[in-house]
Amino acid sequence: MSYYKIENLEQYFKHYNKSVREPRKFWGKIAEENFTWYQQWDKVVDFNMAEADIKWFTEAKVNIVKNCIDRHLAKRGEKTAIIFEPNDPSEAALHITYNELHQRVCKMANVLREQGISKGDRVCIYLPMIPELAVSILACARIGAIHSVVFAGFSASAVSARINDSECKMVITSDGGFRGNKTIDLKVIVDEALEKCPCVEKVLVAKRIHSKINMKAGRDQWLEPLLDQASDNNVAEIMDAEDPLFILYTSGSTGKPKGMVHTTAGYMVYTAYTFKNVFNYEENDVFWCTADIGWITGHSYILYGPLLNGATTVIFEGVPSYPDFSRFWQTIEKHKVTQFYTAPTAIRALAKENIDFVLKYPLKSLKVIGSVGEPINEEAWHWYNNHVGDRRCPIVDTWWQTETGGIMISPIAFVTPTKPTYATLPLPGIQPVLMDEKRNEIEGNQVVGSLCIKFPWPGIARTIWGDHQRYKDTYFSAFPGKFFTGDGALRDEVGYYRITGRVDDVVIVSGHNLGTAPIEDAINEHPAVAESAIVGFPHDIKGNALYGFVILKETGETRNKENLAKEINQHISDHIGPIAKLDKIQFVTGLPKTRSGKIMRRILRKIAEGDYSNFGDISTLLNPEIVEEIKEGKL
Ligand code: WT7
Repeated sequence: MSYYKIENLEQYFKHYNKSVREPRKFWGKIAEENFTWYQQWDKVVDFNMAEADIKWFTEAKVNIVKNCIDRHLAKRGEKTAIIFEPNDPSEAALHITYNELHQRVCKMANVLREQGISKGDRVCIYLPMIPELAVSILACARIGAIHSVVFAGFSASAVSARINDSECKMVITSDGGFRGNKTIDLKVIVDEALEKCPCVEKVLVAKRIHSKINMKAGRDQWLEPLLDQASDNNVAEIMDAEDPLFILYTSGSTGKPKGMVHTTAGYMVYTAYTFKNVFNYEENDVFWCTADIGWITGHSYILYGPLLNGATTVIFEGVPSYPDFSRFWQTIEKHKVTQFYTAPTAIRALAKENIDFVLKYPLKSLKVIGSVGEPINEEAWHWYNNHVGDRRCPIVDTWWQTETGGIMISPIAFVTPTKPTYATLPLPGIQPVLMDEKRNEIEGNQVVGSLCIKFPWPGIARTIWGDHQRYKDTYFSAFPGKFFTGDGALRDEVGYYRITGRVDDVVIVSGHNLGTAPIEDAINEHPAVAESAIVGFPHDIKGNALYGFVILKETGETRNKENLAKEINQHISDHIGPIAKLDKIQFVTGLPKTRSGKIMRRILRKIAEGDYSNFGDISTLLNPEIVEEIKEGKL
């Protein structure tokens, strides 16, 4: 019996129980039957949760790119691996076959080696959603270099912080990128970032927008001529199962971004397995995930998961609103997309537009539609179900995180009955528990608590780059022996999970995970600012928006507050990126603080939401009078 594919609900429960009772047998069999290995493992899993020490498939040897590409060539060489849909729909889409992808990745891998990159080196990739992004990532993985993709919306200082944290030797970028009717000058941002990055020796530049850019002699080279000269013969590196595959930064509740490290074999097995099941992937499907490859969703479900299954995956360069709000639906029709995977924030934004944008397209090719990144509200769920899925495509509301590598709690298409706003049941291998404030596991159903996972799964991130202690402290100390997700959840009467949102200082804005601390740090660097506190508040389209309470220095600041607010937002934009800008800024004279100096954010959250009904116990505040003052100031 194979465990790779779940056919029905009864089988789901069977596989689930097997995965809990005998995780080694369960994952061992999946790993053995569905991948090619140079050498078998000695243990399927070896772990110590208290030390946050987790290893899967120890001693095994493998190359993930051989599994993504080479092994498909005999049967699927002429099959399309990647459909590239450009920003401008009048530019021809590209269909890159597995043979062509193989050739491009091998050439790129040779270029990287010629440029001095070898196994274990870190390479920062800062590219728009163009084929070179996929090729660069896969080329790194082929030669064992650790890719660190930085989303091309991040600012220069965010880029340099990430490059320096993992000491990247190389940056792969482009002259720029197209985004709707705008262009973005990526190389200019890289040039600025690299002023502070002594570790970077080489920069390779892809051509996309044909803008005039500066090329620094001895450091920068155009990618194209190097690729033209490179051989397409490349021997892949033999990797240990636990060799790092990539680093991907995610925000934390303290200032510095966390470089989550994913390793090779476990990530490979987990992304392939979850892709196959959650989306009910079948051989001739065309899969489209609209995320950017710069986020984990893109890593796992634009690239690795689909390619490991020999699928056809769409890389979309543009935005949902360009040239008009029918772009998603038009593109589904154009490429006969079978699975469509997007974020609630996009669904809400599109639901606000004229319904004809979507009704114009029958979308008959669609089979499964998915949601990811934040809780999907009931209204958006129904709109998606009625108008996109036509009530015939199951909605898979997939809960997971950068840290988990792949989908954790989600319906399995055509297997798990869906329920609006519920991520439903854990996938096989995933053992969620809800914890109460006293750190006890809450048994039974119809309960709420902090969501933890009590047994390792193959896709879990293994550490934070250069800071294992922080990894331990962040994920394994709040509830000793368990992985703490930072999310709250409820379990309904049949055991379905509904994710209720973050219980820590992270706010999800338009599906982007933003730590409040780094934003506060950026604001506080403004010369006029003494202190600040950021909270999230509900927003129709973005899910949450950011509200900043700012205390100014007592320098007799006489400037116009509106200009100051603009400057603060510009400051955030420069330090982090435009996604972290505040929707509202209120200047205050103090912040509600406990005697130990901790800002009582729950009060600020209520004020930001406009809910003045019940602030709860504020007797532990050092300065209870400030609450009234802030409230008055807002009214
Ligand atoms: C946080 C992780 C991995 C997906 C992209 C975001 C929230 C994610 C859902 C969902 C409710 C969700 C959680 C999680 N989240 N998916 N289906 N329902 N909340 O990855 O940036 O690491 O953010 O996104 O709060 O902890 P991320």
